[in-house]
Amino acid sequence: TTVHFGLYGLGTMGSALAQNIAEKGFHLHVSSLHAEDTDRFLSKSDGLNESFTPHRSLTGMTKTMPGPRVIILLVPAGDAVEDSIAEARPHMRPGDVIIDAGNANFHDTRRHALALEAMGLAYLGMGVSGGEEGARTGPAMMVGGTQSVWDGVRPLVEAIAAKYEGVPCVDRVGPDGAGHLVKTVHNGIEYADMQLIAETYGVMRDGLGMMPAAIGDVFGAWNKGPLQSYLVEITGAVLNTDDPTTGKPLVEMILDRAGQKGTGRWTAIEALQLGVSVSTIEAAVSARVWSAAKPVRQTGEAIFSPLRESVELGTDQLEQALLAARIISHSQGFDLLVAASRAYDWSLDLARCAEIWRAGCIIRSALLNDIAAAFRAGPPDDVLCFAPSMVTRLQEALPALRAVVGAATSAGHPVPALSAALSWFDGMTQGSGTADLIQGQRDFFGRHGFERFDGGAGHHGPWAD
Ligand code: 6PG
Repeated sequence: TTVHFGLYGLGTMGSALAQNIAEKGFHLHVSSLHAEDTDRFLSKSDGLNESFTPHRSLTGMTKTMPGPRVIILLVPAGDAVEDSIAEARPHMRPGDVIIDAGNANFHDTRRHALALEAMGLAYLGMGVSGGEEGARTGPAMMVGGTQSVWDGVRPLVEAIAAKYEGVPCVDRVGPDGAGHLVKTVHNGIEYADMQLIAETYGVMRDGLGMMPAAIGDVFGAWNKGPLQSYLVEITGAVLNTDDPTTGKPLVEMILDRAGQKGTGRWTAIEALQLGVSVSTIEAAVSARVWSAAKPVRQTGEAIFSPLRESVELGTDQLEQALLAARIISHSQGFDLLVAASRAYDWSLDLARCAEIWRAGCIIRSALLNDIAAAFRAGPPDDVLCFAPSMVTRLQEALPALRAVVGAATSAGHPVPALSAALSWFDGMTQGSGTADLIQGQRDFFGRHGFERFDGGAGHHGPWAD
């Protein structure tokens, strides 16, 4: 049987994905919340319009599309997804599929998958990464759902995906919410990488007194080495762009307040729930939060007039520091995947997740190919940082990370993600830590009990009152 595909939600991502699908030779039914958006989409899709059957509404599309139907949703996470499912569901028949291709919270995806499967319908949660350009020319995608449903849509999804040396950057990573959780962790790593890059930029700007274009050139050079990645590449491009109105470097005209739609925060929340430390990602989320509080930061600056001194660092040290912190933040992200896989019984293939991220997505980088290889070999205790190839790099790069965090903090430059990465590393490589004292304190005030080196649990101290 021929499967018929419909796409609902012709915003930036939906339009780009629809054109990508058409270009790969598939016929597609399309509709959007506002019929005008469908008209606008068709007016901009010259040459591909024969591939589209437009509809005025999701209801109209679902009712008239021949079966079996696969409806791809590209609408904002949350209410819009709920509304779309509620609208389409009454017109769907057993065997039909809904694919949520937005940045959904994976708990919602699990709930939808269960509810729809109980009705004989199928649901795939598909994380799509790569922004508009990726959606148009080849995104990376992480799919959660049942194997047979994935097999049914796989030809189309593989056709539109980015390819890394010919291998499609998409796969079914597990059931129901697994795809959206893997995408969420991708975004958490994205937040951390962006923040680490921004801190490095801050040290160059405020500690080394470099101009944006010069910093941009440094990132451009780094992109030819071990830091090669999409985010480092676009950082160079952003810093080398001038404002057409004022002629100044554009970055100097951009207000230093970052938005966030939630996926970075979800990564941190999920990690806390599962008892995993993703401290660099948490630091990145926190830094976005305080970036948004610009008036408060200005008040703080007026009260304390903090000294921001110059630092003595070479850009080669910054490069090494960024590499070390990047490895550590990826290691933390994969720790969360390991924990989620155990908690939800997903059997996530960590190497495959890294492989999917090698092209098409925002965090694509040279490092991810080595990470995939490291997970294929299986690092000690499943910790990426302990994989031999990463150990070699970390041993080489850690002195620079220490130098950068030390110099930046002494001179008053905030480096929350770089320092979180370093502290995590120091904690995770300290065989004898300081929680002996925590246990003593807990027993002192609450008789919580402690384990002893010489055996047994539930011991108590002879604490004096
Ligand atoms: C991607 C991106 C994309 C978007 C996120 C994060 O993989 O293509 O992650 O999904 O950047 O929604 O956006 P915010 O920074 O606004 O949270």
